Amino acid sequence: MNYKITVIPGDGIGPEIIEEAKKVLNQIGKRYGHKFDYTEVLMGGASIDATGVPLTEEALETAKNSDSVLLGAVGGNVGQSNWYSLPPHLRPEAGLLAIRKGLKLFANIRPAILFDELMEACPLKEDIVGSGFDFVVMRELTGGLYFGARSTVEENGIRKATDTLVYDETEIRRIAKWAFEIAMKRNKKVCSVDKANVLDSSRLWRQVTKEVAKDYPEVELTDMLVDNCAMQLVKNPRQFDVILTENMFGDILSDEASMITGSIGMLASASLGDTKLGLYEPSHGSAPDIAGQNKANPIATILSAAMMLRYSFDLEKEADQIEAAVKSVLKKGYRTVDIMQEGKTLVGTKEMGDLIVQEIA
Ligand code: NAD
Ligand code: IPM
Ligand code: MN
Repeated sequence: MNYKITVIPGDGIGPEIIEEAKKVLNQIGKRYGHKFDYTEVLMGGASIDATGVPLTEEALETAKNSDSVLLGAVGGNVGQSNWYSLPPHLRPEAGLLAIRKGLKLFANIRPAILFDELMEACPLKEDIVGSGFDFVVMRELTGGLYFGARSTVEENGIRKATDTLVYDETEIRRIAKWAFEIAMKRNKKVCSVDKANVLDSSRLWRQVTKEVAKDYPEVELTDMLVDNCAMQLVKNPRQFDVILTENMFGDILSDEASMITGSIGMLASASLGDTKLGLYEPSHGSAPDIAGQNKANPIATILSAAMMLRYSFDLEKEADQIEAAVKSVLKKGYRTVDIMQEGKTLVGTKEMGDLIVQEIA
């Protein structure tokens, strides 16, 4: 079969890691007889430099008309890049928010799995991680603080900035359904994370989540306050199956979750909505500090490509094959610098991609 993929390399390490994910997809195509057609578009800083805006209408249209989207990362060094002298709606990250909203991708799935092979790269003690953990952060992606009204004003010589956190029940219901559906295929546990002791939006979140739970009697629903969750993730990550949470909390908790899997370079992500069209990207950013040095770990992007095969194309065995290839390369002791340990073999971005391709071949 032919699949139309919009590819957005983006900025910083984006182009480097995307190259490796494409290599892996091509090898899968070769082995299983699929054809992946790539259309490259600009987003973020690369788009600002070329067009003046972080995402053009045409780029968004191309994405809408494809079967799925593969993204590297956008953004630059906030202190040094001149993209950040632009008004906020013209900065690199605005392109990312616009494509998520434009494609109506409200459900962000970020799986945090500690591979056996990476046990030593996990900063937690052995007695905490036990035989490893496997949970999913289900993050709401098109609402909350990211999309509420904001302003910066000066009143009587005092500068004042406002951001608003809004959720309506339809937004909460649809993401909660996703979380319960995913839980049904896993260990049937949803932990809904909020700040209901302070925020009205969280109190509504709790109510609606409980209503949705009635349709899933087999799934155990618990609630947890977000500050406690941040602590529980390092105290006992094995208690979690599906963590359901709003946009901002999910952003923060997923970075924390990534680190306990060994590195942020390991955490894949899929952003989905009501159709098969999804956006697949690593959870990390453009890592300006290591860009262009062949140092970035491409695994999060490669695992995101596997999620694309699974969620957008229903190519389950091909997705399994990529995941198995990643594990096998790690088992053989190859490591990028972010997950490097004594006695292992240090490789660069390209070499890691090549090794995974060889495993698939
Ligand atoms: P970051 O994730 O880019 O980097 C944080 C740290 O993790 C850095 O030390 C970096 O070198 C390291 N790191 C990240 N990915 C890595 C990888 N694959 N392999 C090895 N090390 C890796 O976060 P930041 O520095 O806070 O943000 C940099 C820019 O990226 C900002 O402009 C930010 O807005 C943007 N950003 C974009 C996305 C996205 O496009 N999805 C996500 C997060 C941040
Ligand atoms: C992520 C990133 C983005 C987010 C930024 C770059 C807007 O941190 O995908 O986690 O906060 O969603
Ligand atoms: Mn983030």
